[in-house]
Amino acid sequence: MPEIQEEENIARTPLVPGVEYPDHPLVELTHVEKYFGDLHVLKDINLTVNKGEVLVIVGPSGSGKSTMCRTINRLETIDSGDIRIDGKALPQEGKELANLRAEVGMVFQSFNLFANKTILDNVTLAPIKVRHMNKTEAEHLAMDLLARVGVDSQAHKMPSQLSGGQQQRVAIARALAMKPKVMLFDEPTSALDPEMVNEVLDVMVELAHEGMTMLCVTHEMGFARKAADRIVFMADGQILEQNTPDEFFEHPQTDRAKDFLSKILTH
Ligand SMILES: Nc1ncnc2c1ncn2[C@@H]1O[C@H](COP(=O)(O)OP(=O)(O)O)[C@@H](O)[C@H]1O
Ligand SMILES: [Mg+2]
Repeated sequence: MPEIQEEENIARTPLVPGVEYPDHPLVELTHVEKYFGDLHVLKDINLTVNKGEVLVIVGPSGSGKSTMCRTINRLETIDSGDIRIDGKALPQEGKELANLRAEVGMVFQSFNLFANKTILDNVTLAPIKVRHMNKTEAEHLAMDLLARVGVDSQAHKMPSQLSGGQQQRVAIARALAMKPKVMLFDEPTSALDPEMVNEVLDVMVELAHEGMTMLCVTHEMGFARKAADRIVFMADGQILEQNTPDEFFEHPQTDRAKDFLSKILTH
């Protein structure tokens, strides 16, 4: 059937060769529901993040932003609904879950580095254990990544010898060492002294420009405007708005979003 074959070929030929079109869902949450006891923390969450997209998630404290991030790499279970990473449902446990988790890098507010390991060992540990990389290869990769985030000169120090901003950049390098398909950032700069915020945001902006798929919970609206393709506004466990930064900041649709923006933008 040559005709059908030809049609298939046409459908698969990209408009511009070599350009990857951002139409490939990497993270998909469908009708996700989550309770903590009686508390309904995630209410019918539907969210699709395409390859290369940068989402900034904003919303009042307690609205479920962290919980949503944690469900994406299954640090939290869900009560119903479906979560897929690159088309695959989240496995329940075991090796498969470890592998899938490795595809989702996560950076938290508290840097979570292993206090009794050097910076270099912090970055090589998971690639060696989970990816079965040999030590030399893992150290090369780690040094490259530490150089990219500007802390390669600190490789043989312990975490406590580094500033908060440096530790958070190490945490980013450590997540990247697993070659994740998507990176989650949960308020990565909110525990930092103000003068260190930008050194971490700069690394995130660079990652975004390189095409990394990213979900970022942050109150840094400058970053949101500079790097986000889409702002997701959450309140009371629901996604109330999703829009481009310009639209969201200039024309918020809901009273909750208007109220939230008036509180964070007017001081
Ligand atoms: N492990 C937990 N057990 C019980 N309640 C929790 C737990 N984690 C979060 N919560 C509650 O769930 C709600 C959403 O929390 P969270 O996802 O941390 O919100 P956000 O990150 O938007 O501030 C809050 O009311 C919080 O107190
Ligand atoms: Mg939170």
